[in-house]
Amino acid sequence: MNKDLESLVLSEDQIAEKVKDAAAWLDERFKAGDTPPLAISVLKGSVFFFCDVVRAMQTPVQLDFMTVSSYGSSTKSTGVPKIVMDLSSSVQDRDVILIEDIVDSGHTLVRMKELIMGRGAKSFTVVSLFDKPARRAVPIRADYSCFEIGDEFIVGYGLDYAQQYRNLPYVGILKREIYEK
Ligand code: IMP
Ligand code: MG
Repeated sequence: MNKDLESLVLSEDQIAEKVKDAAAWLDERFKAGDTPPLAISVLKGSVFFFCDVVRAMQTPVQLDFMTVSSYGSSTKSTGVPKIVMDLSSSVQDRDVILIEDIVDSGHTLVRMKELIMGRGAKSFTVVSLFDKPARRAVPIRADYSCFEIGDEFIVGYGLDYAQQYRNLPYVGILKREIYEK
């Protein structure tokens, strides 16, 4: 385990199990559709989870990407998520699957939902790897979340602190001394 981590939250094997379950849930939900849903990765945090989930799905999906930034380099959200890179496809009349790394304050999700429904999407389904319910500032939740955590700052498998640790293949709790200097 990386030396900056205090403990492991999800190992590579545990992540693989969560991915399989999330993909099966999406397959069940979208199997009947005639138009493939549009799966959107909220970058950068969801990049690995997104790639793993869409590849584990049996249902045909189309892919798109959006970069949203809300943190700067602290561990607390600014509450004003900024769209740094927009989608390249239209969501009009589409079933949209938003794939997130973590729902924390909920501000990012609220913003994404307003934006995507405002552009005329037919439906909006959110799958998140993590949920931090204790930190919620706005009442919103993912339709499916894989793992609930307390008020801890976690990194790895896409999740960062100041753009670091994203490429760890597992997820762990970052030692407080790293960000409380
Ligand atoms: P929000 O507060 O729900 O808007 O979440 C904003 C974003 O903050 C998430 O999509 C993550 O990218 C990031 N974030 C929230 N909690 C953590 C964490 O524990 N580790 C790393 N990133 C986090
Ligand atoms: Mg994110």
